[in-house]
Amino acid sequence: MTAAQAPIAIIGTGIAGLSAAQVLHAAGHEIQLFEKSRGSGGRMASKRSDAGALDLGAQYFTARDRRFVEAVQQWQTRGWVSEWSPNLYHCKEGLLSASPDEQVRWVGSPRMSAITRAMLGALAVHFSCRITEVFRGERHWHLLDAEGKSHGPFSHVIVATPAPQATALLASAPKLASAAATVTMEPTWAVALAFANPLDSPVEGCFVQDSPLDWLARNRSKPGRDTSMDTWVLHATSTWSKQHLDLSKEAVIEQLHGAFAELIGCAMPAPTFSLAHRWLYARPASAHQWGVLADADLGLYACGDWCLSGRVEGAWLSGQETARKLLEHLQ
Ligand code: FAD
Ligand code: NAI
Repeated sequence: MTAAQAPIAIIGTGIAGLSAAQVLHAAGHEIQLFEKSRGSGGRMASKRSDAGALDLGAQYFTARDRRFVEAVQQWQTRGWVSEWSPNLYHCKEGLLSASPDEQVRWVGSPRMSAITRAMLGALAVHFSCRITEVFRGERHWHLLDAEGKSHGPFSHVIVATPAPQATALLASAPKLASAAATVTMEPTWAVALAFANPLDSPVEGCFVQDSPLDWLARNRSKPGRDTSMDTWVLHATSTWSKQHLDLSKEAVIEQLHGAFAELIGCAMPAPTFSLAHRWLYARPASAHQWGVLADADLGLYACGDWCLSGRVEGAWLSGQETARKLLEHLQ
């Protein structure tokens, strides 16, 4: 088997890994994806629950770069995304006020995970497979998973995980590993609350300041969602999440429910359903302009939102840049 014939391994099925996978597949390369979770999407995944599918991570995204604008238009044509135009509010020093704007915001339809699921299509993927080591033999790359199973040979490896998880996987290219190691990623506690009777509030999305909360959204206001219950997703600030990293889920729900009740300004019954989820690596502490970390001669690449802006758009662009660089090196 020659290096050109061996497949390309991609670790991580978030939008960055899938963005690279789509370009490389379209260019005729065989791809094998590895994902530690049971499904794709990473921070764009949606959780199935007794209150329907919940977008607990990315809430919506904006498209500013021309290439991403074009991609999102295609996704819209295919029915993967819809525009979300919530009644937007802003809360500062406890004062809630309407804060409408002209920004176009997109969501996956009927749930955020629909985008990455559609991008994955029929590509080969190993779910529930956490990669612990990436190593190079004489001419090819091999991967080792947490169960001790070896995968390969591969011509190239793309590490598309958050930076702290990428560092160990980049050990064969110490320069890439040390660049990834400089990236701090901050946590976010997310809570979902469902009410049998809709809250008497016009709010559908709210940017929050001076509170443990950073953001709240009314899930049913997004297109295609289950409307049988009034479900809200609350995100804590990075600061609060760091300070309460090891708090029990019950205590996180209680405290963020309390902060929500304080700011929403309407009667707040006990929720009929609640859950908490801790995103340990939610967002990079600062943006970078790397696009991709690459050792093209070795055939090892790292991408993700942390290589650009810590947003869906940044992650997608980083995947595109990775595929472009890899294909350029093959020419
Ligand atoms: P990820 O989505 O993290 O994908 C990485 C994948 O790698 C994961 O599936 C993970 O399971 C897998 N993985 C990790 N390690 C291994 C391993 N060793 N072996 C195998 N698989 C592995 N962005 C916006 O634009 N708008 C928003 O409103 C917004 N809100 C957000 C709210 C929250 C709470 C969070 C957490 C994020 C939010 N973001 C938002 C950011 C956005 O979700 C991310 O920028 C984007 O989804 C990152 O994509 P990615 O592919 O780089 O990484
Ligand atoms: P955007 O343009 O809607 O928002 C950018 C920021 O501008 C907002 O965070 C908010 O502070 C402010 N803003 C925008 N519209 C506003 C309005 N109508 N009223 C008051 N303030 C307003 O979206 P963009 O640039 O795509 O950003 C993505 C969003 O994702 C941000 O809100 C960001 O905080 C969030 N995010 C959250 C993460 C987390 O872990 N909680 C991780 C990554 C992104």
